[in-house]
Amino acid sequence: MNSTAGKPVSHSKTTITELMIPSYANFGGKIHGGILLSLIDKVAYACASKHAGTYCVTVSIDNVEFLQPVEVGELVSLKASVNYVGRSSLIIGIKVISENVKLGSVKHTNTSYVTMVAKGEDERPTPVPPLIVETKDEIRRFVEALKRKELKLSFNEKMDETKDKLDINLAMDILKGQRCIVNLEV
Ligand SMILES: CC(C)(COP(=O)(O)OP(=O)(O)OC[C@H]1O[C@@H](n2cnc3c(N)ncnc32)[C@H](O)[C@@H]1OP(=O)(O)O)[C@@H](O)C(=O)NCCC(=O)NCCS
Repeated sequence: MNSTAGKPVSHSKTTITELMIPSYANFGGKIHGGILLSLIDKVAYACASKHAGTYCVTVSIDNVEFLQPVEVGELVSLKASVNYVGRSSLIIGIKVISENVKLGSVKHTNTSYVTMVAKGEDERPTPVPPLIVETKDEIRRFVEALKRKELKLSFNEKMDETKDKLDINLAMDILKGQRCIVNLEV
């Protein structure tokens, strides 16, 4: 496939719907977060590989915050679309909703952003086609993804600086007032 020819967002839009069966539940009767994470990874792969036209790997899953519990018997739908592409990376935006068909209610459980990288036959990152954005929402999502990438980079740099400066004296200071019992042999 010619990787310089773009593909529109609509080409790879993917939705998966799955029934939440009892074996997906935890002891409290709610669906395990890990089940939803696995579905998020699956739909992200389907969407990314359709755009890339190659095998893709998951690099990171951001913003996984489950806003509301999912119950057994609900239908969970995951709507995925490519929000951003770099050279070999793609960011897939995934909206997860859960539907109770008997009550006719729908709840938004979370929105996540999965970074995938396209791999070639040699297992190395390989270029993906540019993304053709055709609506204001698609433009907004691309720019938001860029901003999120920049913020993540600066967060990681700040966190590295913080770790470099952290010694035992500073750590003991920070722990004052925390619900942490220090039991350190000196
Ligand atoms: C992700 C991976 C391909 C990066 O390999 P690499 O040799 O460092 O490749 P590069 O430096 O050329 O980076 C390739 C792309 O990944 C992106 N990338 C690398 N690490 C990243 C990270 N932590 N977060 C976001 N993007 C990342 C780079 O920005 C680059 O994007 P671009 O091509 O759009 O500019 C490699 O680390 C890998 O294969 N990881 C394992 C992934 C996997 O197996 N996942 C399944 C879960 S077990």
